[in-house]
Amino acid sequence: MRAIFHLAIILLVFPACAQPPSRPGIPSIAEIDKPPIIEYKHRALPEVSRNGMIAATDKLSAEIGVDILRRGGNAVDAAVATGFALAVSYPRAGNLMGGGFMLIHLADEDKQVVIDYRETAPAAAHRDLYLDDRGEIDRQREFFSHQSAAVPGTVAGLIYALENYGTMSLKEVLEPSIRMAFEGVEVSFALEYELEVRGKRLRADEAARKIFFKPDGGFYRLGDTLVQQDLGNTLTRIAEDGLDGFYGGETARKIVDNMEANDGLITLEDLASYEVKEREPLRGNYRGYEVVLPPPPSSGGVHIIQMLNILSGYDLASLGHNSAAYIHRLTEVMKLAYADRSKYLADTDFTPVPVEELTSMVYADKLRASIDLERARPSVDIAPGAHLPYESHDTTHYSVMDAQGNAVSNTYTLNFSFGSGIMVPGTGMLLNNEMGDFAAKPGYANAFGMVGGETNKIEPRKRPLSSMTPTMVFKDGKPWMVTGAPGGSVIITAVLQTLLNAIDFDMNIATAGMEARIHHQWSPDQLRLEPGISPDTDRLLQAMGHNTSITPRTPTCVRTVALENGTLLGATDPRRPGGWVARY
Ligand code: GLY
Repeated sequence: MRAIFHLAIILLVFPACAQPPSRPGIPSIAEIDKPPIIEYKHRALPEVSRNGMIAATDKLSAEIGVDILRRGGNAVDAAVATGFALAVSYPRAGNLMGGGFMLIHLADEDKQVVIDYRETAPAAAHRDLYLDDRGEIDRQREFFSHQSAAVPGTVAGLIYALENYGTMSLKEVLEPSIRMAFEGVEVSFALEYELEVRGKRLRADEAARKIFFKPDGGFYRLGDTLVQQDLGNTLTRIAEDGLDGFYGGETARKIVDNMEANDGLITLEDLASYEVKEREPLRGNYRGYEVVLPPPPSSGGVHIIQMLNILSGYDLASLGHNSAAYIHRLTEVMKLAYADRSKYLADTDFTPVPVEELTSMVYADKLRASIDLERARPSVDIAPGAHLPYESHDTTHYSVMDAQGNAVSNTYTLNFSFGSGIMVPGTGMLLNNEMGDFAAKPGYANAFGMVGGETNKIEPRKRPLSSMTPTMVFKDGKPWMVTGAPGGSVIITAVLQTLLNAIDFDMNIATAGMEARIHHQWSPDQLRLEPGISPDTDRLLQAMGHNTSITPRTPTCVRTVALENGTLLGATDPRRPGGWVARY
């Protein structure tokens, strides 16, 4: 009581105590209280920095990339260093023998390019490669054999990016990864967990067993050191000989010997003739923001623009975030996009894809007009039921921004976690099983339940259709948000909802990535809801005719950096362990 009395007297006599006047150089309370970037109404806060930032899936590799920035490298140098480093520290998806898409923004030229380093089918591959005598798909051969491997693009893609848009030498950006491979990586919880989950597959391959298990056969545990001598030697050959260190010489010979001994298809000629494609990005406009995305053979760009175009006709903010009315519109739009995906999308170097039509506002208006705002439309009423190829959730994504305003959004993969689980002896490299992203039997489902059309059939040298969607959003002509995710077919809807959360619902990037998400991919006709969508909302959706199911979580996680008012923000969504924002 006495204390309150004293405080009242003090405030009466010295009202300035409540709000001291600001002295030169010292901000006033009102100024300090101003929340210019990070709004406290949000559920999670991003990391903050002024110089450079990488949001990635693994601490060691993200820090290697940021160290390159600290040493004066640009965002591309850092992205290439992180890409090679993940092959050592995050072997489930980081890779030398996979492929992906890198979206680059060059601040000086105000230009964006897509580097398509997606794998290609070997020359000996053909439409019915995986069909057995009865015309059934042999899933073992499709996903877990030497024939599952497509010609890898990662090394060519990273070298292409560095040579054309980086500033440092290949030796400089590879040095930390080589050191990490020889000296060993400290096993993280995420690595321990994944090695155990995929233990059976990795143990079955002699070369993989030698690397990923202790000499006594036991698992590597949190805090142990995992040394990868063979991988260190392979990276050294790449550092010394560039493309030839991988697509020729000893490395190529080891890959092809292993293929020849195991009925594999990749030849020396396949490796030597692998080509990176630099592609013009796709651009969409959504509520005044420019969204920049990869074109086919990624399907993400086409369908994110298509879905945003349709959604732009609704006032989503007024419906309330994750309300039944909002989720209903989102779901109906997703179904339309994924039905088109199964029919039209493929490698445009082989098949004409109506990209302009699919991303046009005229088409979006037509599709919007077909949506019933009260009732769910069964998928079979949108297009005849069909099966889709399974797409792995085990890709990895990282986003980079440097102090000069350059940015990189990179997604790459081996397809499944640790690819097919087969290692090329003496190289430390796992084979991808990316051939599974083709339609093994057009019209039938892939392993993720997605239907692949005739357009995505296997053809020699063709790139399989992908969902990888490295994304950038520009505000007033300047890069604002760089994002992307792993997750196969779920990538597209995860990125879409992250954009909607940030743009329509004004969430900061950390909250935008972590809010509960939904997923519908037309086939199967099932609306997946993450926990966090309320049971009441679920009941309303069911009453509208949606076939809902609560999933523990959608198997993806977005990694985002953003630039706001001159400050870099970074966030990794918590759906997967180990995500890390490195900054300086
Ligand atoms: N393998 C997964 C993807 O390309 O989307």
